[in-house]
Amino acid sequence: MTVAVGRREGSGRVDTETGEFVRQLAAENRAFWVGRDVRLDPTAPRETLERQLRYRMRQGVYNELRAAELIAAWIPSVQERELRGMLPGQLDDEQRHYQLLRRRLRELGEDPDAWEPLPEWETLFDWLLAARARPTLEKLAMFQFAGETQSCEGFEMLIRLAEPVDPQTARLYRTAILPDEYRHAAIGQQALLLLADTPARRVRAAEACREMNRRVFEAYAAHRRRADRGG
Ligand SMILES: [Fe+2]
Ligand SMILES: [Fe+2]
Repeated sequence: MTVAVGRREGSGRVDTETGEFVRQLAAENRAFWVGRDVRLDPTAPRETLERQLRYRMRQGVYNELRAAELIAAWIPSVQERELRGMLPGQLDDEQRHYQLLRRRLRELGEDPDAWEPLPEWETLFDWLLAARARPTLEKLAMFQFAGETQSCEGFEMLIRLAEPVDPQTARLYRTAILPDEYRHAAIGQQALLLLADTPARRVRAAEACREMNRRVFEAYAAHRRRADRGG
């Protein structure tokens, strides 16, 4: 996923320093996540993997719903027109993902609404919701730039592993969810290119990503522990 380094509205070109910062921060985030998305185990036997995939979908319904809620809560505080203009589309996507996953779980014989979300995921989304008071740069660095980029990586792995086990679900993720998530990650990149234009702002954006990565990793680890327990 790439976003062309384009023009800043009303203030000339994105400088190469900002572009370089964004590339470095993306690389730092990628490095953090090497070996840390523990929600699925590619080496697990098929039966375990099937259970892990199903668990991802159940929790995924909740996560998509909370993502929609989160974007709705953030929209009023995003004053930057060019970024704000992209958020209603994201809200619509997350709501659609929520419905698509619910429908798929029903087809698989489950009641998606009976799922009790993991407290660690609830805490993560509650924290993000409360972050609406933080500057746009930090919010979009956290959720769209760090979070959604990692989500794309996670979905790529999920699709790869689901393909032989549950091809219909793999297709759903590949065709109806993943392309949208790449677009959401690109919103984060766009926000950084527009707003991370001073050394102080770059420090805050990088810190926001680190904080997000840490918190998401805690949620992933708890997710895996619960999946292993069969909860
Ligand atoms: Fe989504
Ligand atoms: Fe998303």
